[in-house]
Amino acid sequence: MMALMQRSKNHKVDFLVLGSGIAGVRAAIELARAGHVLMLNKGALYESSTEYAQGGIAVVLGEDDEVSLHLHDTLQAGDGLCREEAVRILVEEGPHLIQELIEWGMKFDRNGTKLAFTREGAHSRSRVLHAHGDSTGREILRALMAKAKSLHTIQIQPYAFAVDLLAEGRRVVGTEYLDEKTGMVNQVVASAVLLATGGMGQVYKETTNPAVATGDGVAIAWRAGATLSDMEFVQFHPTALYVQGAPRFLLSEALRGEGAQLRNIDLERFMPRYHEAAELAPRDIVSRAMVMEMHRCKSEFVYLDLTGLDAEHVKKRFPRIYSTCLEYNLDITADLMPVRPAAHYAMGGVATDLDGSTDLAGLFAAGEVAATGVHGANRLASNSLLEGLVYGAQAARAMSGQKTTSAVVRGENPSQMPLTVSNPDETKAVPDVEPILCTVRNLLWEKVGIIRSGKDLSEAVKRLDSLTLPTPASPSRPYYEALNILEVARVIARSALAREESRGAHYRTDYPLKGETTPPRHSFVSRDTALQFSPDPPRVGSAAPRASGR
Ligand code: FAD
Ligand code: SIN
Repeated sequence: MMALMQRSKNHKVDFLVLGSGIAGVRAAIELARAGHVLMLNKGALYESSTEYAQGGIAVVLGEDDEVSLHLHDTLQAGDGLCREEAVRILVEEGPHLIQELIEWGMKFDRNGTKLAFTREGAHSRSRVLHAHGDSTGREILRALMAKAKSLHTIQIQPYAFAVDLLAEGRRVVGTEYLDEKTGMVNQVVASAVLLATGGMGQVYKETTNPAVATGDGVAIAWRAGATLSDMEFVQFHPTALYVQGAPRFLLSEALRGEGAQLRNIDLERFMPRYHEAAELAPRDIVSRAMVMEMHRCKSEFVYLDLTGLDAEHVKKRFPRIYSTCLEYNLDITADLMPVRPAAHYAMGGVATDLDGSTDLAGLFAAGEVAATGVHGANRLASNSLLEGLVYGAQAARAMSGQKTTSAVVRGENPSQMPLTVSNPDETKAVPDVEPILCTVRNLLWEKVGIIRSGKDLSEAVKRLDSLTLPTPASPSRPYYEALNILEVARVIARSALAREESRGAHYRTDYPLKGETTPPRHSFVSRDTALQFSPDPPRVGSAAPRASGR
């Protein structure tokens, strides 16, 4: 244990939810029926990827649409690796949960009284609902938070950084968190714990993700011995704004859905040469095509061209993107927008069953942190918000059944998962983690990025293994985030090296084709077991029944 760590006494709740994005808040609302819920967010209350989600949420509510088509499109985009039963739950439960969200006050954009749907890449129908044009996630979170705040059994605590899980053997009984307001590390025990900590884009030098997306939930689960799955599959969004010195602000796929085109620096529209769906091909295909064009034209970016669209419509439909780009002196209605791909979404994560259970008793995962198998090797656009909603509720139902007093009582004096043990000689009061973070992010971007090779991946694995962080004298969020980024980066690189084929978002020049194994195999790895491939998820908790209590 770290020498100067101050701890408060344990406290107990029925359910603990780590993270307050779409998955966490939707789960908390469901759990509130069964008991007291404590929901932690390491940052400000709304800080999450959900808050920045632009394009929308995919759901079958349109007159010309069918659940079977949404299922088909998701399986196609997933390139053979989706878990079909998980996708079925996603597309079948989605419509009901969206209707419920509307009843709770969610305001989707409408044409007159009818819901307005837009089209995104690899969808065979216009089925993407949006809000305030391009602020869909913000409006969803507003509606969910309003509902959560109306329920007196939910307590929400911002600036509470979950450090590690508390466990008795392979049963998780709570968590240890750093209260940034007091500087104390607190322990809280619960009947069941949900990881809803979101993604890991901050592992890469170039990412669309907010600063909170440091892979904490995956690293926490890893240290506790849970199995991770498909960590090699990282989605690169094609169109992040490329302006020197600025963050990689996302230019929504919905822009292409409305007719925006990609041009190389010679102003040639190139996507029709790569795929029949051109700009609306699956994301992995568009991102790779862009990299190839950049390579061919010796440029660092390509252009997104909206100049052919009606300017007034664009301003009204994408007000947040329009105003943000103006801050960089770019007018999306008149200028060509320099863009290139950036790390956007993790298809892999903590392996779960259909009810969100992991292979550690008492531990559940939902949303981007989880690998339910719904996205396969490449996520279909706008399916992630839907996953958070559907699987947040799904996991909460299973957790509700686990409410026991005995777990809480036994948890009064829980054993703790070891934190990184400090070597007093290396201990520094405020260690500078930036140089190592910079190295990790560059390595991942250059060697474990959009186009990979065995040689690069081997080098990345070796270099990542050689890195160690200086141990701090007292706990700090930057230190733990750097530790989590390093641990997650190692698993991504190792998993990518082990997968000797190209599939979905994982492309290797030395294995350019899909492997011949039928059915295709997921990767599974834990701290205690070597990486292995299997078509089936590991034996985790028993699958919960489908949505009930409507
Ligand atoms: P998040 O919304 O990221 O929430 C995670 C929460 O956990 C945060 O509150 C975070 O602070 C907290 N947390 C993390 N670590 C800790 C810790 N150690 N202790 C305590 N709390 C912690 N998907 C779509 O379907 N449609 C879109 O239009 C879309 N647009 C996107 C645009 C952008 C710019 C980005 C980055 C992503 C977009 N996505 C979109 C993806 C989607 O937004 C995310 O996958 C989804 O919101 C994840 O939800 P979540 O609840 O799993 O995690
Ligand atoms: C976007 O608006 O392009 C993001 C949609 C998504 O990630 O699903």
